[in-house]
Amino acid sequence: MSEHILVERRGPVQVIRMNRPDKKNALTRAMYQAMSQALTEGDADPAVRVHVFLGVPGAFSAGNDLHDFMAIATGGEGGLEVWGFLAALAGSQKPIVSGVDGIAVGIGTTLNLHCDLTFATPRTVFRTPFVDLGLVPEAGSSLLAPAILGRQQAFALLALGEGFSAERAQAAGLIYAVVGEEDLESAVMDAANLVASKPPEALKISRDLMLLSRETILDRIREEGEHFQQRLKSDEARAALMAFMMRKKG
Ligand code: COA
Repeated sequence: MSEHILVERRGPVQVIRMNRPDKKNALTRAMYQAMSQALTEGDADPAVRVHVFLGVPGAFSAGNDLHDFMAIATGGEGGLEVWGFLAALAGSQKPIVSGVDGIAVGIGTTLNLHCDLTFATPRTVFRTPFVDLGLVPEAGSSLLAPAILGRQQAFALLALGEGFSAERAQAAGLIYAVVGEEDLESAVMDAANLVASKPPEALKISRDLMLLSRETILDRIREEGEHFQQRLKSDEARAALMAFMMRKKG
């Protein structure tokens, strides 16, 4: 487990909180592993009816820890933890509700494409700078974003790296509702409890009918993953990652 992932059961709701505030919830390999385990265990436990993802005030997640990307870019071992997490996320048997406040970069955005209800605060900006980093979309987002947002908004998000305000994200269908910072967690918990109050069998069948085939999504995650691993070793990615590291030193 990771001290940066807090897992808590609140009645039928399993809350998975990313909690690495000093790094804006950049996700490490240990954090992915802890979140995969929580999803898998929650799915297997009939007492859990819904998963909730939360971050910390001002940061849902700044995306994958770029030091871990840099390690792969410079010839180090590639971590498989993120792919395990994405498989658990896309394969989740229970509905997922998320609450996003502030920074939502990379997987901090694409995670929400797997959620059934996402609430975000007005100061939230969703952003996926994959191409600017010399990388490609992940988490099945190359399939899910066009399906959810339409091709042109998806291109703006995934290829241009445009920031989507909470208002724009709601208009585009990326999120369910915009709520004030002070109301975020209560809105998320109210929604999660409402979901949990529904007849679970009927809810599961209904949710499964609404999803694209899990196998199709998992296939796309694998295909993206192959490109992603190769791109990490490209000159484009190395230069972009180095620029981030140098920014730190400057
Ligand atoms: N990986 C590793 N460290 C990260 C990080 C990431 N993805 N995002 C933020 N951090 C670290 C910063 O390096 C900084 O660490 P330091 O205090 O040791 O210098 C700390 O978190 C705070 O970040 P900072 O940049 O000072 O906060 P900010 O509010 O000015 O900017 C971001 C926040 C998210 C806009 C900016 O940090 C950023 O662009 N991060 C990279 C996001 C990214 O490209 N993610 C990968 C997507 S695929």
